[in-house]
Amino acid sequence: MHPWIADRTASFDSSGIRRVFDLAAKLKDPINLSIGQPDFDVPDEIKEATIEAIRSGKNAYSPTQGIAPLRQAILDEVQEKYPGQDRDVFISSGTSGGLVLAMLSLVNPGDEVIFLDPYFVMYPALVRLCGGVPVMIDSYPDFRLDPDKIEAAITPKTKMIIVNSPGNPTGVVASKSDQQAVAEIAAKHNIALISDEIYSRFFYDGEFYSPATDNPDTIVIDGFSKSHAMTGWRVGYVHGPPEVIATMLKIQQYSFVCSPQPAQWGALRAMEVSLQANVDDYRRKRDFLVQELSPNYELTSPGGAFYLFPKAPGQQGGEAFVERAIEHGLLIIPGKIFSKHDSHFRISFAASDETLQRGTELLIQLAKSS
Ligand SMILES: Cc1ncc(COP(=O)(O)O)c(C=O)c1O
Repeated sequence: MHPWIADRTASFDSSGIRRVFDLAAKLKDPINLSIGQPDFDVPDEIKEATIEAIRSGKNAYSPTQGIAPLRQAILDEVQEKYPGQDRDVFISSGTSGGLVLAMLSLVNPGDEVIFLDPYFVMYPALVRLCGGVPVMIDSYPDFRLDPDKIEAAITPKTKMIIVNSPGNPTGVVASKSDQQAVAEIAAKHNIALISDEIYSRFFYDGEFYSPATDNPDTIVIDGFSKSHAMTGWRVGYVHGPPEVIATMLKIQQYSFVCSPQPAQWGALRAMEVSLQANVDDYRRKRDFLVQELSPNYELTSPGGAFYLFPKAPGQQGGEAFVERAIEHGLLIIPGKIFSKHDSHFRISFAASDETLQRGTELLIQLAKSS
């Protein structure tokens, strides 16, 4: 390691993802089912609002907490959803920015942070960056948020529980009763509860439920990246107890400074754009994939997001299977990147119908020859 590099950076690595990207770069016309963002473009009215913001000179820093009308619009929504709760809100540099600030604000060295395995790749990396200890709860084979397992993992060092429903990489939605139970456990043990709700709009069966409903101290992290295909624009938001929000803002002021101002004006417009057609379309894609792949793959039907996390066929393991798929021109992600286990793989159905058709045909063929 280069002598200048700080020790904390050695506590995690990103070689797994790099390897997939390296393999992908060699493919000429891949069937790409690996992408973690919608396949539709940013709606035109959002683009127009952002361009108008740039043209009219809204190009400076915004206040650290975000432009007033966007904060107010989100706060109005939050107050409607969680009446009577004392919650403050700020605009972060994407959901990732919110996660970074939450960890820096709450995790002391040695603190334990509980989340499910499989997990979103940033969780263990950020916990370690803060000197914390990731405590991963094995959720195979159904990826359920099991409150008993969560409670059993609590020690005097537990500082935080992260829930992510619908989840990346499984797409699985935690039931209302399981989330309620986890919300109560967090309150009972005085543990911070982070709810990463980035996929809340991609919800296919029933009503979205947030643990903030039952635990008013829940820190909710959400954003516009996935819902409005604005991943490159970096607009997210966080709401939670005012003192925690104030601490996160103090760090934002000396790090991200603010979310890009023109993109915040676009996000304000985005709040008026209906996503129903896109959600209906993704539900249809989910149904298609589950129906086509279920006979040949062990899988849990995802209630949200745009991912499917099937078990690799045969005894070969996830990584070996993904390498075989890539050799055949199909780009998918080995489950190992999101997990201690190397048994599954992630498919993203944020892709055109034609790509999904080609991808499923190949996957069925690969399962039959495994
Ligand atoms: C669970 C989860 N949280 C957060 C993020 C980060 O999103 P953003 O673009 O808002 O930083 C992602 C992106 O893949 C995600 O899957």
